Amino acid sequence: MENNQLRIGDTTNINGKVIWNSPSNLAIIKYWGKYGQQFPKNPSISMTLTNSLTKTEVLYSARSVYDGNIDVDFLFEGKENPKFKERIKQYLLSIKEYVPFIDQLHFQIKSENTFPHSSGIASSASSMSALALCICSIEEKFFKTLKSNEDFERKASLLARLGSGSASRSIFNSWALWGKSGDVQGSSDEYAIEMNDHVHEIFKNLHDDIFILSKNEKSVSSTAGHSLMETNPYAEVRYSEARRQLFYLLDALRQGDIERFGSIAEQEALSLHALMMVSNPSYILMEPNTVKMIRKIRAYRKESGLPVYFSLDAGPNIHLLYPDHIKNDIIDFIDQELKPMCINQMMINDQVGPGPIQIE
Ligand code: DP6
Repeated sequence: MENNQLRIGDTTNINGKVIWNSPSNLAIIKYWGKYGQQFPKNPSISMTLTNSLTKTEVLYSARSVYDGNIDVDFLFEGKENPKFKERIKQYLLSIKEYVPFIDQLHFQIKSENTFPHSSGIASSASSMSALALCICSIEEKFFKTLKSNEDFERKASLLARLGSGSASRSIFNSWALWGKSGDVQGSSDEYAIEMNDHVHEIFKNLHDDIFILSKNEKSVSSTAGHSLMETNPYAEVRYSEARRQLFYLLDALRQGDIERFGSIAEQEALSLHALMMVSNPSYILMEPNTVKMIRKIRAYRKESGLPVYFSLDAGPNIHLLYPDHIKNDIIDFIDQELKPMCINQMMINDQVGPGPIQIE
């Protein structure tokens, strides 16, 4: 069915509910720089997490007027949040060409995160993917256009991308790649694809422990950070470097080469922050404890010989990456050395996960 046919014939007595839990993800090759309608300047690859989730409930009912506007009420963690509500309204308006029925319904949306409020964890990937999945479930209910898993996931990923680029990858189990790459068949700038078949077992339950080093809101949002890439003198080098790194990472993921994986993950994390530092205006999101913890992790790796690596998102918190089989060996290091450096000892144990789950 063409998008422009997705209009509900008779809306009388319509009401229903859909609920999705959708996870956040951690990119190993980072998406940093975009153009046009939320297209990435380079392909990115990420692990889908298990515990850092957004639960989104969408109640929908008939609207008496269709004025082309979006009619939405929004509660975040049980409370009204005008800033988020406006963002959701703008988002729903922006996807109208893909889901034309969107202005025929009144929406009551409730959203909550499982990770602690203001933990500095970016929630746009989990929240925008959860919402995109709910919209796709509503499309499927009315039009039966997304019956196959592939069609459903593809559209959900595309709609999620339009909300937040990184959200396009959260739709998938385990590992996902977003962005056209000559090295991966079927890859696209429009939506992400699942990478499970390209990944060795050792990476399918990789741990990502997140150490909360600051709860402050980011001084520069990711969206602003992406646009600073437009004038960054290193931008073109970065985009070709990201493609080169992706090529080696894909090989490491296939081979189960954790050392090469770890070295690429760390280089990518530091490249992201280096790009921020050389932006104009320049900014720094790392905190003194970020650098201290990086040094501790590298020193511990050297002395123990264990494969523990770090990554960073667009913020000061450290993500500790390690394979499942060493989890008991590093408990003391985590409890005695890393956890005490966190705000209120706050950390989140996370791991590669199964992807979003429909609750209703
Ligand atoms: C550093 O997806 O949050 O986490 O598309 O503007 O919403 P928008 O940006 P966003 O950027 C994420 C950047 C990153 C790297 C990544 O997840 O690939």
